[in-house]
Amino acid sequence: MSELRKSKLLPEKNSLGWFFSFEGGEGAGKSTLIESLYQEFQRRGCRVVWTREPGGTKRGEAVREILLKKMEPGDPPFSPYMELALFLASRAQQVEEVIRPALKRGEIVFCDRFNDSSIVYQGIVRGLGKEEVEEVAHFFSQGIEPDLTFYLDIEPEEGLKRASKRREADRIEAEKAAFHERIRQGYLSLVKDHPERLFLLDAALPPQQVFSHALEAIDLWMEPIDV
Ligand code: TYD
Repeated sequence: MSELRKSKLLPEKNSLGWFFSFEGGEGAGKSTLIESLYQEFQRRGCRVVWTREPGGTKRGEAVREILLKKMEPGDPPFSPYMELALFLASRAQQVEEVIRPALKRGEIVFCDRFNDSSIVYQGIVRGLGKEEVEEVAHFFSQGIEPDLTFYLDIEPEEGLKRASKRREADRIEAEKAAFHERIRQGYLSLVKDHPERLFLLDAALPPQQVFSHALEAIDLWMEPIDV
């Protein structure tokens, strides 16, 4: 981790605050992890914002409904372009209304999913193209990118088992097993391509251990470094 941190020397920061995003397949435990981190940083007296995608704003939550509503028999499939456009629309509002102002105020932002979800789900797995989605997502988020992203890695079968205990599967969770395996492979290839900004966490470990690994990484990341 320290090598990863040093490789950036001083991270190019676009604000006073810190922006961390959390990625993973279904049931990887992102919310549990974010909740623990949120409480930890609040306990330390930091101002923290916890938000999610799609959603996080009134308009974004309305878009989330459209995106995740289960298909009725006979419903035509979503165009992957419409799917991408809606995820990006929700994010655009969220950046404008929540993330950018919080970073400007110097706060810590924890976001459950961000551009990497679009890159993996729509770019790689739905086939719209990794680079293409990367570019358009960057534009829609006004160039604001997380300082560090955690990818919580879990066997899709195990993740879906966990997710099914929580609630009924939404439209995307209800996709076939092969889809979820491709999502995992997509994330793993992204971690391989971008080790400078993506940090893999073994989400099969007990939640307490996943939390301490993430916390260690964040503390290191936020620590001022000598150059
Ligand atoms: P959510 O209930 O938030 O899932 P999870 O608890 O797994 O985070 O649903 C978000 C779903 O939308 C999830 O299946 C991933 C998908 N998604 C995309 O396909 N593209 C995106 O850009 C985003 C943000 C999410």
